[in-house]
Amino acid sequence: MCGIVGYTGSQAARDILVDGLRRLEYRGYDSSGIALSDGERIRTVRRVGKVDELAQAVESWKVASACGIGHTRWATHGRPSEANAHPHSDCSGKISIVHNGIIENFVQLRDQLQAEGHVFKSDTDTEIVAHLVEKYYDGDLIAALMRACERLQGAYGLAVMHADHPGVIAVTRKDSPIVVGSSDDGDAALVASDIVAILEYTRDVVFLEDRQYALLTPGNIEFFNENGKIIEPEFTHIDWDAENAERAGFPDFMLKEIHEQPRAVRDTISGAVKNGRVLLDDLTLDDDDIDAIDNVYIIGCGTSYHAGLVARELIERWARIPTTVEVASEFRYRNPIVSSSTLVIAISQSGETADTLAAVRIARSKGARVFAITNCVGSRITRESDGTLYVKANMEISVAATKSFLAQIACLMLIAMFLGQKKGRLTTRQVKSLYYELRETPAQIEDILQDTDVIEQAAKMIAKAHSVMYVGRGIGATVCNEGALKLKEISYLHAEAYAAGELKHGPIALIDEEVPVVAVVTDSPTRMQTLSNVQEILARGAHVVAVATEGDTDIEDIADYVLYIPPVRDWCSAITASVPLQLLARYAAVERGCDVDHPRNLAKSVTVE
Ligand code: AGP
Repeated sequence: MCGIVGYTGSQAARDILVDGLRRLEYRGYDSSGIALSDGERIRTVRRVGKVDELAQAVESWKVASACGIGHTRWATHGRPSEANAHPHSDCSGKISIVHNGIIENFVQLRDQLQAEGHVFKSDTDTEIVAHLVEKYYDGDLIAALMRACERLQGAYGLAVMHADHPGVIAVTRKDSPIVVGSSDDGDAALVASDIVAILEYTRDVVFLEDRQYALLTPGNIEFFNENGKIIEPEFTHIDWDAENAERAGFPDFMLKEIHEQPRAVRDTISGAVKNGRVLLDDLTLDDDDIDAIDNVYIIGCGTSYHAGLVARELIERWARIPTTVEVASEFRYRNPIVSSSTLVIAISQSGETADTLAAVRIARSKGARVFAITNCVGSRITRESDGTLYVKANMEISVAATKSFLAQIACLMLIAMFLGQKKGRLTTRQVKSLYYELRETPAQIEDILQDTDVIEQAAKMIAKAHSVMYVGRGIGATVCNEGALKLKEISYLHAEAYAAGELKHGPIALIDEEVPVVAVVTDSPTRMQTLSNVQEILARGAHVVAVATEGDTDIEDIADYVLYIPPVRDWCSAITASVPLQLLARYAAVERGCDVDHPRNLAKSVTVE
């Protein structure tokens, strides 16, 4: 998805912007650009492709500038091209603008502006904002931006420069994140769509609210509400270590983040149970609220949705509350049956996913209490929900979610225990025992990560296939959904997950020696049934990669590769059995020469519908 970075200070803006854009690469993009103001005019360079191309193009650029804006674009309106890449400009060439989001009424606005004589040079919705600012500009940049935004429908994070205001960047947002901060040395001010782009320079930042404005000058930021009144928003201190955003010696962020999973799970569950009582203070539900809950609805997209599938299994198992899980993009248009007796759990790593946010608004409008589970402090979902539980995965860079997924599952397990206890279905002793088992999982992940040879060998076989089937039952089936998604995302192989019992109702027709099957046959009440399905698969000549429990040597007689996990109860295997499948996908992607951290067509946070 698009990324914004801006800098005004005393250092060379070009290098800071290019560096910031590199840090935003993980979000996914197809082109990039920067604009620098040299005190007299604004100069712009844009390139299609990687930020490296842009960096090369500006390397010999002799513009003495300490103020500029940059952007990585992920095409929505108009194909990826230099003309459509940001920054965009107005007719005079004095205004330069970068934008994240989508302007929904851009066709209507463009027609009006064209009728007034404005000439457009791109196919983008963004360019109309530059022309609107031009139209309303009478010497006051922030006032012109405010008037322009009054005309906009849709989502926007915006950063604007004007040649007549050297060293000034005006910014605002609606439904698209913008964060601003002064540099720690006090010399500069920075803006970004994602804190990672500016973390090296600032740790105390303001996440702008919708329709708030900020005027950045070297070392100073003024904040305004939409009526132009000066406001003083709260600063948030970011603890994340800048180094944390680097790969720390791993060949890619995905592998680094897979290895960070023990800590992510540990941090997420730490201190959540004391003396057999689940303490989730952020889940602000009193006994009457809990009594009133007669169903749970879980919403999310992609990997977050898969975490929801695990949660349904456990909430129904431990709390006996009927639970529905739905992808947010369907929920939002379906008039779902949700009421004040529904507890809605909205899961989003980024907290900025447009479909999930829309679903949250709908659920609340129907009277439901909505609790968000997210990894990102200050993200939109935290402000749109009734309460937030943070997972402690820390910054996740790779587009393919891994550590945030395990942390989400761990967090949801705590919620299931909490509801089970509050509904009187789980005793203190049972909670103690469940928590004890959950606390073992980080060490078990570490065990799995110790020796990955067999996973790498299996990945070599998988990498040669055109299509891969994943099968399992119960918790194993939910793990398969995520395993198949990981393989699709980063290795571009077709992969499908099926409840093993469903195979014979259709998909078994696909199985032959060309279609390897990944079967999750870990210890569970349905292991024998799944093994029978594996026999059916073998009878069709397929190669089998089994995820099994240590000690299960029988499986070695039938599977080509066995990926072992330590002995755990089936519910804990939602965490542990996911790890070999993440690694399988990652090694297969490397084997196929894919860019693991920047899969094609994908973005880390999907802030448009
Ligand atoms: C995960 O690997 C994917 N990148 C994707 O499915 C992701 O989980 C989905 O877009 C939802 O994102 P969110 O958790 O930030 O809302």
